Amino acid sequence: MSRTVYVNGEYLPEEEATVSVFDRGFLFADAVYEVTTVLDSKLIDFPAHMARLKRSLKELEMGAPCDEAKLLEIHRKLVTANEIGNGLVYLQVSRGVADRDFHYPEPGTKPSLVLFTQSKDPIENELLKTGARVISIEDQRWGRRDIKTVQLLYPSMAKMAAQKAGADDAWFVEDGFVNEGTSNNTWIVTKDNTLVTRNLSTSILHGITRAAALRCAELLQMKVEERPFTIEEAKSASEAFFTSASAFVCPVVEIDGSSIGKGEPGPVTTKLREIYLEESRKAAL
Ligand code: PDD
Repeated sequence: MSRTVYVNGEYLPEEEATVSVFDRGFLFADAVYEVTTVLDSKLIDFPAHMARLKRSLKELEMGAPCDEAKLLEIHRKLVTANEIGNGLVYLQVSRGVADRDFHYPEPGTKPSLVLFTQSKDPIENELLKTGARVISIEDQRWGRRDIKTVQLLYPSMAKMAAQKAGADDAWFVEDGFVNEGTSNNTWIVTKDNTLVTRNLSTSILHGITRAAALRCAELLQMKVEERPFTIEEAKSASEAFFTSASAFVCPVVEIDGSSIGKGEPGPVTTKLREIYLEESRKAAL
């Protein structure tokens, strides 16, 4: 069955959903995006995703395509039209269509808005059961990783490097410290049961799942440190995991060929994942 896709005001079969070759998203990667998880046909952490979208748009002086109520309506219509039980909604806003020029187009230029669904069930992700193996790789992305832009070529290259090395993902390292994964935030659990994840800055994306996991850690009364950590520290941790909308809280069992802890998903990661799912289901829209 062909998916229904939303493009600039229209709900269309995916074969007919197109954008202009002059779209700034296509020519300059001048676009931002959000990925919202759907569980039981409900949106997880929707207001937080919309708040981050607003921030990304503001940082890039890009206009909003419509208000949040309209975006919620589009998300829900697509979930219904495409019969998504568990899956994802992808949203992209670009600066719009204009003749190719490095300068931004006229302020009144209409942003392009595209949304589509993916039916891959995040709950059924095999890595959640087995744990992921990751490699470390130098972070060669641009400096404003706090803005969720569609400039994803380097993360894509890093994913391919991981695949070639027989691993599932790559962790970006800069000046000796781990920033984040190709499409997730990174965490370790120290031997004294402290959760460590990098502090927020322009070096990493301010993950919505990261924020939710921090709230869950508070519920569990766990000790948390928001600070950089090295690959060496991660290798000697008792557990490691990553967080993202599409992978929730996913265990990491191997870094650069070294087993983490017992080399299997650990109890803290598993508990955090359970609480995260419970809490996010409660607040789903
Ligand atoms: N990626 N860091 C990076 C670089 C990311 O691309 C993502 C999300 C995250 C986690 O953010 P959140 O918890 O808000 O999903 C961290 C999405 C899922 C993607 O590109 O598919």
